[in-house]
Amino acid sequence: MRAGVVFASSLAAAVVGAAGLIATPAAAPQRAGAPRAVTYTRDVAPILNRHCVDCHRPGEIAPMSLTTYAEARPWAKSIRAAVATRVMPPWYADPAHGEFANNPRLADAEIATLTTWVDAGAPEGDRRDLPTSPIAAGGWTLGTPDRVVAMTAPAQVPASGPRIIADYAIEPLTFEADTYVSAIEVLPSNRTVTHHAIVNVKDAAGTRRIGGFQPGGATTIYAPGYVRLIPKGATLALNMHYNPKGTPQQDTTKIGLTLARGPVQKVVLTAMSGSRALDIPPGAANYEAVGTPYVFTADSHIVSLLPRMNERGKDFRYTLVAPDGRAVVLLSVPRFNPDWQPSYVLKTPIAAPKGTRLETVAHWDNSAANRHNPDPSQRIGFGPEIMNGYFDYTVDADVPTRTAAVR
Ligand code: HEC
Repeated sequence: MRAGVVFASSLAAAVVGAAGLIATPAAAPQRAGAPRAVTYTRDVAPILNRHCVDCHRPGEIAPMSLTTYAEARPWAKSIRAAVATRVMPPWYADPAHGEFANNPRLADAEIATLTTWVDAGAPEGDRRDLPTSPIAAGGWTLGTPDRVVAMTAPAQVPASGPRIIADYAIEPLTFEADTYVSAIEVLPSNRTVTHHAIVNVKDAAGTRRIGGFQPGGATTIYAPGYVRLIPKGATLALNMHYNPKGTPQQDTTKIGLTLARGPVQKVVLTAMSGSRALDIPPGAANYEAVGTPYVFTADSHIVSLLPRMNERGKDFRYTLVAPDGRAVVLLSVPRFNPDWQPSYVLKTPIAAPKGTRLETVAHWDNSAANRHNPDPSQRIGFGPEIMNGYFDYTVDADVPTRTAAVR
């Protein structure tokens, strides 16, 4: 799942729907003596589309693309091994803490289908059975958005030099009324140099994050009735982080907004527990920082967690501490992967009553042993490294009476 935020309800429906597609010959009653053949087009492609192609497609982090039969066929035996051992799909949250709606883990029946297919010689099947590609026209993964705002001019990224972190001008979009948004997708045109992007909403009340792009998380969608609010008179701003990659490059990032339809139940807010007091010595293999706790000022529910660090990030943990001191770990990412930073969507939103503290702690590996580390000889402060323990939440008292206006 590419989605940054998917709630249990919608995801469970998707999984149930998906399970219906999978009839493994092993489980199916044998008709006329011969089991139905498992084919790529009918049985395997839907599984790869659902669980693998987010990463296994051009421009993404996996080494090979698995979007067509021609691409997947040579990898059949590796696929069997990778899914049987559950090495793939990778998932970075420690299973000891929390249950997440967007955990891409395969069902046993799906593993059986893939194994049976490979054992049978990985047949293609009838091309008319092919499911539609999950990658929509124009590259949008959430379907065509209602509003698209692009950079007014391409960002120029030189061949070399320091990373670029800057705001870029986007086409003006005036919000003449409070606007509820059900999905936000950020689409860079050039992922080679795009490290991440942040979409902020700006108004008299300040600047707040409402969406973003980071490897593994380009979209933010909500369950029906869960929306983002772009207040009347607000504007959007786009902050980009580019890394030069050896040749001059350009990028034109677009922001796609899907307007909410139907009644509004809850407005989703983003806040963070993090730290700017980072001073990581050269070569330090386990530098620790503790985030400033976020204290809930009203009864709330946490819906998702998005730990953000850069190349030296090693691990990240969120703990919810009740006023009486009881603590529960919400998310632990013991082997943080800077190339894959999804939002971890809680299967069930977690209550954070007034006075509850959300605490974070993270570590960085600035040693040469960290394969992501561009330069272990540098002393690293805030900027090159970050500790942003983002999380999305809703306020219980939020009144579910508004209706989203589509205009
Ligand atoms: C979160 C991103 C991601 C997802 C989702 C994912 N993969 Fe991968 N996959 C990778 C990466 C990255 C590698 C390269 C090895 C590594 O770094 O772990 C890889 C490697 C592999 C390999 C090993 C290639 C080799 O060199 O032998 C196979 C096979 C594979 N993936 C199959 C799958 C299948 C099948 C799925 C879906 C069921 C899947 N992957 C889902 C990221 C992903």
